[in-house]
Amino acid sequence: MYKIAVFVSGRGSNLRAVHHFESKKYTITAVIGSKNDCGGVSFAKENGIPVYILQGSSFKDGISYANLAEILKQNGVELIVLAGFLKLIPSDFVSEFENKIINVHPALLPSFGGNGMYGINVHSAVFKSSAHVSGVTVHFVNNEYDMGLIIDQECVDISNAQSPEQIAELVLKTEHKLLPNVINNFADDKIIIKSGRVYLKD
Ligand code: GRF
Repeated sequence: MYKIAVFVSGRGSNLRAVHHFESKKYTITAVIGSKNDCGGVSFAKENGIPVYILQGSSFKDGISYANLAEILKQNGVELIVLAGFLKLIPSDFVSEFENKIINVHPALLPSFGGNGMYGINVHSAVFKSSAHVSGVTVHFVNNEYDMGLIIDQECVDISNAQSPEQIAELVLKTEHKLLPNVINNFADDKIIIKSGRVYLKD
């Protein structure tokens, strides 16, 4: 069974989708929160998934990234999934899990990404641009916000959208399908990196 850990900071709808589509291929062995009072963490607790809260300015008792890395390795975690996780992952941790951390972003990268581009900020920028297409990107995590290699993308038609909130709603539905699908592809060992690009094996 392919073991994954999911990092959350907010309501956790992507975590729910990943949990819902949990198959014989993968299982969520841990949920890591940047804070202890968010929907994602509550969902994990309600479903008996082990939870770790990271140390932070407002939560001194939490776990450090170094200790977390040890625990995840001991538990045989093969993939780390950032699902609405708002903090930049420290570079030491990124190096320890090279090409094993992925993120879901609610737009078509490399546009509408980077520092401060999260949640409704992304959809407001997309709305203001008058783009007729937005979408979802799942990408590897490196040391810069939203800059790692793109693993998979799906477009969403937003030509009739009347507000950023409406774009968010349309895009979220696609996030909930694409993210579990990408995780399944990792579990099937279908994701390969060749000459600096990411491919899906047949
Ligand atoms: C999603 O749109 C995700 O792409 C973005 O933040 C949002 C988190 O939503 N990074 P949720 O916590 O999964 O409901």
